[in-house]
Amino acid sequence: MKQPCSPVSKKGMSYPMDLTFQGLEKDYLRITDLEIVEMEGEDIDGILDIENLCFRSPWTRDAFKQELDIDCSKVFVAKKSTPHKKKIVGYICLWMVTNEVHILNLATHPNFHRHGIATSLLSFGLEFSILLGAEIATLEVRKSNLPAISLYNKFAFEAMGVRRRYYSDNYEDAIIMCSKLSYIVNRES
Ligand SMILES: CC(C)(COP(=O)(O)OP(=O)(O)OC[C@H]1O[C@@H](n2cnc3c(N)ncnc32)[C@H](O)[C@@H]1OP(=O)(O)O)[C@@H](O)C(=O)NCCC(=O)NCCS
Repeated sequence: MKQPCSPVSKKGMSYPMDLTFQGLEKDYLRITDLEIVEMEGEDIDGILDIENLCFRSPWTRDAFKQELDIDCSKVFVAKKSTPHKKKIVGYICLWMVTNEVHILNLATHPNFHRHGIATSLLSFGLEFSILLGAEIATLEVRKSNLPAISLYNKFAFEAMGVRRRYYSDNYEDAIIMCSKLSYIVNRES
């Protein structure tokens, strides 16, 4: 169900940003050939390539296009420099709803798994959200998705509940996870 959400300024943010994630400082700066930028329409083909490789019930082109028109939505894309062009290797979709950021989608290209790209996208997206006033982050993840759960644990996400038979393709349960963002910013490394 769509929820009322807070408009997110599309302009005026400067990257990289100012916050420090203890133990995760600026992962997106450590990967020197990685750039994280806001999604534009022309990025959707590259995003769909990854979406179709990664998910059993992928988002459609229209679903990504719609995100461009939703005030509270931000989609950030990770691009890697190759000799001839910049290749899209991952993306994250966030919604800001009052003091909460909800992570709707996150994926990285299978050829680049375990290269720190999701860590970079998540630290970048959370940092962006904190600067806009987010205090907690929430998401749903398939119970069987241990790689993603392990990633979220690194950002202090904890299981808060279960949505039984949430995914319509196989009726798998969703774990609802939540992270107090002040904890991520302030904790000791
Ligand atoms: C989950 C996913 C986004 C991780 O992306 P990634 O770019 O490989 O992640 P990173 O390289 O930043 O890894 C960060 C952490 O995630 C966890 N992780 C990632 N892949 C893992 C795997 N195959 N097994 C166990 N843990 C894994 C680890 O904790 C890892 O930290 P470590 O390398 O220090 O052990 C990626 O596997 C993916 O796109 N999966 C398909 C889509 C998906 O499930 N999205 C999440 C929906 S909720």
